[in-house]
Amino acid sequence: MPDLTPAYDIHRSYEDNYKEGPFIKGEILPRTLIRKRKFLGFEVNSLLGIPAGPLLNSRWIRAYAALGFDLPVYKTVRTRAMPSHPNPNCMFLKVTGQIKEDDFGRPLVATDDSPSRVDEISITNSFGMPSRDPKIWQEDIEKARGVLGEGQILIVSVVGTPGERDLADDYAKGAAFAKEAGAHVIEINLSCPNVVTKEGSVFTDSLVSSAISKSVKLAIGETPLIIKIGYIADLQCLADMLAANAPHVNGVSGINTLPFAVIGQNGAPALPGEGRRIAGVCGAAIRQCAMAQAARVVALARKEKYDFSVIGVGGVMTTQHIQDYFNLGVDAVMSATGAMWDPWLAYKYWKETNLL
Ligand SMILES: Cc1cc2nc3c(=O)[nH]c(=O)nc-3n(C[C@H](O)[C@H](O)[C@H](O)COP(=O)(O)O)c2cc1C
Repeated sequence: MPDLTPAYDIHRSYEDNYKEGPFIKGEILPRTLIRKRKFLGFEVNSLLGIPAGPLLNSRWIRAYAALGFDLPVYKTVRTRAMPSHPNPNCMFLKVTGQIKEDDFGRPLVATDDSPSRVDEISITNSFGMPSRDPKIWQEDIEKARGVLGEGQILIVSVVGTPGERDLADDYAKGAAFAKEAGAHVIEINLSCPNVVTKEGSVFTDSLVSSAISKSVKLAIGETPLIIKIGYIADLQCLADMLAANAPHVNGVSGINTLPFAVIGQNGAPALPGEGRRIAGVCGAAIRQCAMAQAARVVALARKEKYDFSVIGVGGVMTTQHIQDYFNLGVDAVMSATGAMWDPWLAYKYWKETNLL
């Protein structure tokens, strides 16, 4: 049986993982670079990356960049320090097959049992988007930039914090800090509670999301801007959101996790504490939704001649899934859960596609 020990130790706290991780066994072999590709105006080794989340700081960026993920995203930061939810933050889920829209609204059951294959792993994650103080993460981003190899770029994910100041201004301030620290590209995580309508997440609201992307773009100028979005079931709503944001952005990344109530075997909420009844679901079971949305975004971008790149995220567990996403016409592919349990994923892809 393959060793399914993740680089992020789900039995330990976020702080332990931040300070001691990643926990990767095995030798990281150097790659021979063959040819460069273009991504957001940069020459890069490959179009593979890790989306915001698993790469907690510059040590994690160093390890995954060395493993061949040439587009690493630094985990979402804020304009102020925020602690993580307590452990557990990640739990395995009992899901057979793919989640479908009909399943939305029904609870999912958490389990301690690890699947025996990477492509069967679905997890819930609930961190509350923790952040160090900007001073600390700015210094660390400078370090992260320094550990990248040739043909690699640092993308930094930023989220606004409701209540601090106008939400769009807070996103813009965080993005400007990240740019100042050395980010090649800024990503804004639009899976943030909509404080204007008090309903849902910002990414479902074209007015609020485009006001944010416009402010951020003004603050970062020429630096490319990616918006990270969640799943939008309604095609018109997705089309409206893209139309409103397209003038301000250079990339659209998705999907983020799917929100579900997560319960234990006894039916009680699996994650302890207030505000954690609903948690994000990621990994194998969200691939169908994620690929369906990636295909819709590609189609809309072609039809409307939008000038942004599309980044496919969600359920990428194997090299075949990477290829399946590229076949949809996306410009880059990223894996969070898959690459946590199989840090050699990019390396295997390179090998299989004869790039090594
Ligand atoms: C441990 C973990 C932490 C995450 N944290 C963030 C985050 O801080 N910001 C964000 O935009 N997405 C976050 N995500 C979501 C991922 O970027 C991604 O959208 C989602 O997990 C789906 O991809 P996957 O199926 O490859 O895991 C996180 C995911 C995981 C697994």
